[in-house]
Amino acid sequence: MKLVIGSDHGGFELKELIKKHFKDIEFIDVGTHSTDSVDYPDVIAAAAKKVQSGEVEKGIILCGSGIGASMTANRFQGVRAALIHDDYGAEMCRRHNDANLITLGGRIIAPDMAFRFIDIFLKTPFDGGRHETRVKKIDEVSR
Ligand code: RB5
Repeated sequence: MKLVIGSDHGGFELKELIKKHFKDIEFIDVGTHSTDSVDYPDVIAAAAKKVQSGEVEKGIILCGSGIGASMTANRFQGVRAALIHDDYGAEMCRRHNDANLITLGGRIIAPDMAFRFIDIFLKTPFDGGRHETRVKKIDEVSR
């Protein structure tokens, strides 16, 4: 499986732990590559574009809180970034919202929790049906 991953300095350490933990996943790491301060919209836009273009189906984005990363990614049509803090959200963002980016706050989510949320996110399929109509409307109403 190939995923895009990107973070600012606030998510850098968790990003590196995620890459180490998920050894079987091929990551396209769009940065950042150190704890030096960067502007999260720059790296998160690079990650969102990989999903928008179809180069990868899914990915992981991080910043300190996850909030700025999520706001940025969701400006891209076709990108559905879900900011996740619990197992329920990790499951439902796939089942009902067909999320294609999981968003995590590097300063608030412990590594073990992040790994579990990512596992759930990756293994849970989209329910489709009535949710497909709604997900299509996300892009329609914002055009
Ligand atoms: C950086 O200090 C911090 O603002 C950023 O990582 C993120 O939390 C923004 O939403």
